Amino acid sequence: MSHLLKIDHLYKKFDSSEILHDINLKIDKGEVLVIVGPSGCGKSTLLRCINGLEEIQGGDIVFEGKKINGKNTKWNLVRQQIGMVFQSYDLFPHMNILDNILLGPLKVQKVKRKDAEEKALALLKRVGLEEKKEAYPRQLSGGQKQRVAIVRALCMNPKIMLFDEVTASLDPEVAREVLDCLLELANMGMTMIIVTHEMAFAKAVADRVLFMDEGKIVEENLPKLFFDNPKSERAKRFLSRFNFDNSLKGEKNG
Ligand SMILES: Nc1ncnc2c1ncn2[C@@H]1O[C@H](COP(=O)(O)OP(=O)(O)OP(=O)(O)O)[C@@H](O)[C@H]1O
Ligand SMILES: [Mg+2]
Repeated sequence: MSHLLKIDHLYKKFDSSEILHDINLKIDKGEVLVIVGPSGCGKSTLLRCINGLEEIQGGDIVFEGKKINGKNTKWNLVRQQIGMVFQSYDLFPHMNILDNILLGPLKVQKVKRKDAEEKALALLKRVGLEEKKEAYPRQLSGGQKQRVAIVRALCMNPKIMLFDEVTASLDPEVAREVLDCLLELANMGMTMIIVTHEMAFAKAVADRVLFMDEGKIVEENLPKLFFDNPKSERAKRFLSRFNFDNSLKGEKNG
């Protein structure tokens, strides 16, 4: 069976420093893969390689059975299928929320305005922001802007979404709204790779967890096993730094 996305022996360096070594992963339709690991281990770089923002020096990235790391890849087309949301939401300040969201579908995908708008409004409603459609980015909180950025990516009908620490710059209450939005997406069956430092969230949302350290995947595990009884010493040490019991309480009550 072919996987939606498969990475084989990916190797990445910046100049002479080796950043990612022999990365292998697979993700099927509807799966949620969560990547955790210490700062600087290469999580963001891996996501950026997957949608062509970084060149790789070895290995293959195969999407829907097709190698996409060749010279002739049309990344602007691939990126419509592989959506990505970062920590910073970079909405255009001079455009209202709806126009920010419609830019890709109208200009890039040439979707009919009526159809794109219908979809955008349905998604905005889903994340609780329908009444903000005519507001400008400066009038929104960080969490609201981040939810708009998620809607904007979803409006392109991606087959998989990559999320890189989308709550890192938000305070906890606002972060919660964004995490809930991702949980809902997971329940809707969206295929996602999520990089996060929110361990309780990771445990709740993941089908599988990948733990990275120093540019390698050190452990791949089911969330319950990873968080309750990690296989590797390195993961044990990493997890011991999180006040996991408290954050889990927050998860259940919050
Ligand atoms: N453009 C670049 N040029 C050179 N080195 C880079 C570049 N981008 C990242 N690196 C290096 O690659 C390594 C991995 O960085 P990366 O941002 O992928 O880590 P990360 O796991 O996402 O960390 P964090 O949890 O802090 O976001 C780091 O050592 C970083 O300094
Ligand atoms: Mg990062």
